[in-house]
This record gives sequence, C-alpha cells and structure tokens, in this order.
Amino acid sequence: MPAPAKHVGVSQILGRKREGPKIVVLTAYDALFGRLLDEAGVDIVLVGDSVNTVLAGQDTTLSATLEQMIYHTRSVRAGVRRALLVIDMPYLTYQVSVEEAKRNCGRAMQLTGANAVKLEGGVAIAETVRALVDIGIPVMGHVGFTPQSVHALGGYRVQGRGEDAVKRIVADAKALEQAGAFSMVLELMPSAVARRVTEAVAIPTIGIGSGPHCDGQVLVLHDMLGLNEQFRAKFVKAYANLSDDVRTAVRRFCEDVQSGRYPDATQSFEQ
Ligand code: KIV
Repeated sequence: MPAPAKHVGVSQILGRKREGPKIVVLTAYDALFGRLLDEAGVDIVLVGDSVNTVLAGQDTTLSATLEQMIYHTRSVRAGVRRALLVIDMPYLTYQVSVEEAKRNCGRAMQLTGANAVKLEGGVAIAETVRALVDIGIPVMGHVGFTPQSVHALGGYRVQGRGEDAVKRIVADAKALEQAGAFSMVLELMPSAVARRVTEAVAIPTIGIGSGPHCDGQVLVLHDMLGLNEQFRAKFVKAYANLSDDVRTAVRRFCEDVQSGRYPDATQSFEQ
C-alpha cells in the first residue's frame, strides 16, 4: 500500500481522536529506519530515550543525554518527510526548572527539526508543559509507567492498580490536557484504566502495554521487529524475527569468506 503523501501535523493528530483511524506510532533512532517507517505510513515517529537501552545497551533510560537525543533525532529527521517527528526529552532536561525546560526543549527543536517534544509526568510537570506550549513547542505527555521514574516506581511494573492509583493517573492526564499537550502516551496500565483515561480527555491517548481502548498505539521498533532479544514483554507483538535473520545472514557470510565462495567474479572488478 503506498504511503499517504500528506504531511502529518499536530492538528491532524488531534482530529484523529474524533474521526479516526487510530494513530500509529513507532520509535526510530536513525535515518534509515526513519525513512522506512515514513514510507510504510506511520503517523508519528518517536525518537525515544529508549535508544539508551535498545542501542546503547544501558539498563535504564536515566543516563540518556540531550546531546545523544539531538544526534539521533537529527539522523531520523534526514529520513522522515511526512510523519510527525517527536523527540523524547531525557531525564533532568525539563524537571529542574521551567526556564531550563524552555531552553533545553527549544534547543532540541532548533537543532533537530523535530515537530514536538515528549515529556514524562502529569500534574508535576503541567506548569512546564504550559510554558512550552506558550512559546510554540507542541508537547506529547507520558503517564502511567514513566521509565525515567523506574526507581521511584519500584521497577518495571503495571500502574493504576487500585482506585487511588487510577485517580492519580486520570488527574495526571487531565493536567496535561489542561496545560495544552496535544496527545499523551499511556504506558503499562490495565485496559480498563486506559479506557477511563481515554474517555476523560479530549486529546488522543497513545497506548503501550495499555490495551486496545487508546486512540493509538506505540511500540519500540526493535521490539516489534524481533531485534531486541533482551526485552520480552507480554504486550509486544513480534511482526518479524530479524535477530534470527541477521544471525543466519552473518553465518552464511562467514562460511562464504572462509571457504572462498565470496567474492566471486560477479562481485569483483576486471582490470
Ligand atoms: O522511549 C521510548 O521509546 C518511549 C516509548 C516506549 C513510548 O517512551
């Protein structure tokens, strides 16, 4: 199916809550995958700080830096023409003060060509979200399990179990909406909780590990391609098994080089 040619903007994403279809989001960390996702028709390409775990091999996203995110987002920008491009702001670039958040998010937008930033948190960062929106920076929120708070949350676990916890997530979501966010990620919560949040706000919710009732879905590209064997979660559906494909191809290359089958005349130059 050819990809729709029209550029995706924040207003199109907002309209999809009422009009559908559901919003499709995937992560990318480089130009090559950015181009493939764009051509395949995703609505939003997210340069997630998950790059720090998936590509850089770290245990958490906490040590991701602004320079790292800028480097990867600039690369992805080179491949993405149509989809909305969102840069995930790393830990401590927006939590210290509103002024620092404005400077860091503004710098990220200027240096990368991203169309929006993503910040983790709800009530606690609502003032910051408002200040960013007021200076022209579209903000995607992120509530439920927020990986930059993994230690405070006691590990990688489902959020929103119990009425108090549900009320906190709904309050976070409403605070983001009121602050002017154009969408938000709902990570790791029961389907019924994600449905409640989705019904409580007028901006689109993008689920990951949060069931089918959200307005869109996001996955980490390397997980859904079966490339990230370190991470196996219940909510990940593998649409390919590229780890096996890569190992098989590399083994064949080793055999060909060692046996002298590669290169043959067709891969060699005449004088
Ligand atoms: O960093 C990331 O990739 C994310 C998505 C999983 C939502 O935040």
